[in-house]
Amino acid sequence: MQPITILGIESSCDDTSASVIQDGFLLSNVIASQDVHRLYGGVVPELASRAHQQNIIPVVDTAIKTAGISKKDISAIAFTRGPGLLGSLLVGTSFSKGFALANNIPLVEVNHLQGHILSHFIQQKEKENILPKFPFLSLLVSGGHTQIIIVRDYFDMEIIGQTIDDAAGEAFDKCAKVLGLGYPGGPIVDKLAADGNPLKFKFPKPQVGELDFSFSGLKTSFLYFLRDNLKTNPNFISENLNDLAASLQYTIIEILADKIKIAAKNTDIKEITIGGGVAANSGLRTKMEELGKKNNWKVHIPERKFTTDNAAMIAITGYFKYLRKEFASQSIAPKARLEF
Ligand code: KG4
Ligand code: ZN
Repeated sequence: MQPITILGIESSCDDTSASVIQDGFLLSNVIASQDVHRLYGGVVPELASRAHQQNIIPVVDTAIKTAGISKKDISAIAFTRGPGLLGSLLVGTSFSKGFALANNIPLVEVNHLQGHILSHFIQQKEKENILPKFPFLSLLVSGGHTQIIIVRDYFDMEIIGQTIDDAAGEAFDKCAKVLGLGYPGGPIVDKLAADGNPLKFKFPKPQVGELDFSFSGLKTSFLYFLRDNLKTNPNFISENLNDLAASLQYTIIEILADKIKIAAKNTDIKEITIGGGVAANSGLRTKMEELGKKNNWKVHIPERKFTTDNAAMIAITGYFKYLRKEFASQSIAPKARLEF
């Protein structure tokens, strides 16, 4: 039987990525990150779409070459329809439509969030590939989202908790900015935290609904705490940088852990996955493993390359849609806001 080969395209924010997945196995995953945003301390939408425009052809070419296939082997092209920045999404969407037309293959639309959640199903040759079993809980923590989702089947998902304001990744990034660190702040805080004392400084946890999250208060109290201490010691940040990073990271992880514990208890689901950029965080990964051991959960921690934005997660989600023959029409438009 002819293998099913999916070319995935991701361009929702500031990473241009293309990936080839064949019968569920990863053949390539190429990511061009856009350094230009570092200068501005955050993603500049106009610059992001321009960079996608420049990157998309070479990234796709490299993904196809690295996979060792040719264009005529591709069964379908899957692309991120949303959520994300409209100008960025437009580049991937228009490219995918053109590619589908030119190669006479189906077009498959993918929800970026479902991509993060289903990234756990990417299989790799010569690896053990332990896939989650339905139903499972997904803790989806990225720069734009913080949600707990019950995943009953590939496309049967229910959000049971989410942030009422900032996402966990935003909390990392905004607090890192206050500390004068670069962008994105999450990975920098992660690195600094490794040599800090997580219990040195205490920040309040939010009081919100049972499974909801809130991170805007943390950012404010972090800012006020620094401001107060800088009044008496202008070197407070530099003298305490590692401890500040560790204590901030500890607080964010505790907030996330408290909620996933409640979700597991309420739903009686013991199969738990984490996904999204913040799932790359060392502290969160360790905490989830500890919680798994303590509570007898089966915890799935993705490889770091599948946590931050990548097209492999779009290709695998596209693969499952292809199997269901869920194709998109040429008139499809990207959507900055997209629920599932
Ligand atoms: O999933 P992602 O690449 O893009 C979105 O869909 O938002 O997530 C990006 C977010 C950023 O906020 C970034 O700071 C955070 O993930 N992030 C991390 C780490 N690596 C990326 N946060 C904490 N620790 C990390 N190691
Ligand atoms: Zn993402």
